[in-house]
Amino acid sequence: MDRRAPPTRCAVITPFLNKKSAKGHVDRRSPEARLAEAVGLAAAIDLDVVYAGLISLSEVKPATYLGSGKVEEIHDIVHDQEVGLVFVDAALSPVQQRNLEKAFEAKVVDRTALILEIFGSRARTKEGTLQVELAHLNYQRSRLVRSWTHLERQRGGFGFLGGPGETQIEADRRQIGERILRIERDLEQVKRTRALHRTSRKRVPYPVVALVGYTNAGKSTLFNRLTKAEVMAQDLLFATLDPTLRAVDLPHGTRIILSDTVGFISELPTQLVAAFRATLEEVIEADVILHVRDVSHPDTDAQAADVRDVLTELGIDLETGRVIDVWNKVDLLTPEDHERLTNTAVRTDATERPVLVSALTGEGAEALLSIVEGRITAGRVTLKVTIPAEDGEGLGWLYRHGEVLARETDEDGVLRVSLRILPERAALVKRRFGAASVRPG
Ligand code: GTP
Repeated sequence: MDRRAPPTRCAVITPFLNKKSAKGHVDRRSPEARLAEAVGLAAAIDLDVVYAGLISLSEVKPATYLGSGKVEEIHDIVHDQEVGLVFVDAALSPVQQRNLEKAFEAKVVDRTALILEIFGSRARTKEGTLQVELAHLNYQRSRLVRSWTHLERQRGGFGFLGGPGETQIEADRRQIGERILRIERDLEQVKRTRALHRTSRKRVPYPVVALVGYTNAGKSTLFNRLTKAEVMAQDLLFATLDPTLRAVDLPHGTRIILSDTVGFISELPTQLVAAFRATLEEVIEADVILHVRDVSHPDTDAQAADVRDVLTELGIDLETGRVIDVWNKVDLLTPEDHERLTNTAVRTDATERPVLVSALTGEGAEALLSIVEGRITAGRVTLKVTIPAEDGEGLGWLYRHGEVLARETDEDGVLRVSLRILPERAALVKRRFGAASVRPG
């Protein structure tokens, strides 16, 4: 007998302000696209979505967010469809959440809570787990504080101020506060260790190539395609919270580290931005960034704009040729669209030219690797360095400061090393081994 609980039946509701009320605020996405994303979010934690609906609002009601007619409508749906959880894709105040729970007779979660759940179920490294827990606690604490002031006001009216409920909340707050402090300490420690790891990797000078992209754009699938490794890839949002690193040899032998990152989504709740950003440290330091886009998606332009916003926020200059646009899922395009996009790509200036690929079929993958290799080697120079064969320390130094392409020892006991290195490091090599031992390669 299967003793597992069946998945929770869930209703997804995306409220949006109708045109008259939005007052010139233009959303990059259509309400339909937002609803589709919300359904995807719910499915990402195995909720059984039995109802999904848009609700047009003329204003946000302080008590229930939605108007009373809509609240009743949803209540009936919850009842008829035996819904256990209602996901309201908005930022609800604690009061609104509680009032809706009462009205619907079902559990209600808002966008932040749901994303936290997803982050929690996807976190794989210690840092990821801690960050999510921290965000979760901060979210809970803000709820406690606010619902507490709300209760206080209410109790004040009835003369119950200082009752047991309040003591409990105080105790909860204290406990949460203590946990937060502990996690912050642990996080500091983990970050220090991580920084150490990064520095040691920096000394092995493989260029880092990071995959970024809107959630579900196909990063993990492309990562697998390029590394031929089996990492978790699913039609779920946030299949990857923490960066995954893998070494890849490019067609002409350049070794790179490929880094898969968490998927971006629109309107990330502010409480989660820190947890999200810290998972993107690899991106900030990457030599090349592959911006993976699902070009078969109707909202592909809005998604790309969101990703670029985040990259800019992270201080990444989009103009320097560090970012390569990867137009993924071209297998899903009609032949006409495929041709149109190919033409667009061809007409684009080489430094900004997007690469059309299908991570699924492998189309364009080799070309992408060559382009990445071109970008990485473009700025580097090759040197021939001659050192005594017994100078193991010197050889180690070369490995740490550049990329050793080839080495051979001749009969005179001299080691000739072909080294690819950043131009600004060439002087360093000359200083270390003497100008006479270093030649352009
Ligand atoms: P997150 O981790 O949520 O950010 O997603 P991701 O960007 O890593 O996407 P993932 O690789 O998990 O792919 C999402 C879905 O798109 C999966 O169902 C993939 O099989 C599918 N997919 C990825 N690339 C392609 C492609 O080139 N063509 C088609 N048809 N489907 C693709």
